[in-house]
Amino acid sequence: MNIIVTDTYEDMSRKAADIIAAHIKENPACVLGLATGSTPIGLYANLVDKCAKGLITFANVTTFNLDEYRGLTADNTQSYRYFMQHHLFDHVDIDICNTHVPDGVALDVDAACAAYEQAIQKAGGIDVQLLGLGHNGHIGFNEPSESFPLATHRVKLTQSTIQANSRLFLSADEVPREAYTMGIGTIMAAKEILVVASGSDKAAIVRDASSGPVTPFVPASVLQFHPRVTLVLDKDAASCLK
Ligand code: F6R
Repeated sequence: MNIIVTDTYEDMSRKAADIIAAHIKENPACVLGLATGSTPIGLYANLVDKCAKGLITFANVTTFNLDEYRGLTADNTQSYRYFMQHHLFDHVDIDICNTHVPDGVALDVDAACAAYEQAIQKAGGIDVQLLGLGHNGHIGFNEPSESFPLATHRVKLTQSTIQANSRLFLSADEVPREAYTMGIGTIMAAKEILVVASGSDKAAIVRDASSGPVTPFVPASVLQFHPRVTLVLDKDAASCLK
């Protein structure tokens, strides 16, 4: 793993945005895997800024998001589709038809998951997958469990994830109990992976994911088996690394 440690959250966001921008410049038709959550917000702001300055264009970029809550429509302000519109898609020159977020209200769950996988394949696979890290080691909504799920699927959220995500809802009761997520296999098939983490509350999981035992009980630990992973951390998130 390539580990980059920055002083601040802002530096982490700039560095990670530079890495994604370099991919877009090298291959303007690249396929990006994207994440939501608090951590990439600064990164997306940097990408919006670069696009406004004409340094990059999303005109030919295709995106696939990791996950979506089950039961939330795209216009629900808590949905991940809404998050992506608000933080990135509405502010760059991307063709909205080239942006993909799992359909939170799909009626046929299995068909929707299979179609998502097929769409990724049809696009030629993911060139760079952006990931945040859950405190319990989840990536996407792949929660700790006894095995690594392969493909896009429906999941039940753990109590710890419901609690962690309740900060964005009126109460924990409002947090959907299920979600759709790319599988670990989907994520590991990306040609390159970029992980961002910030804050001392992520320090222990950053250590466990990057140098602890590889186990589905710490889903992010599987990234140790991927040949091209870059972690961009602020110094607080890196504070438990040797
Ligand atoms: C979001 C996602 C999650 C988050 C993780 C970290 O699409 O897939 O795995 O990346 O929960 O979230 P933050 O950045 O809010 O700490």
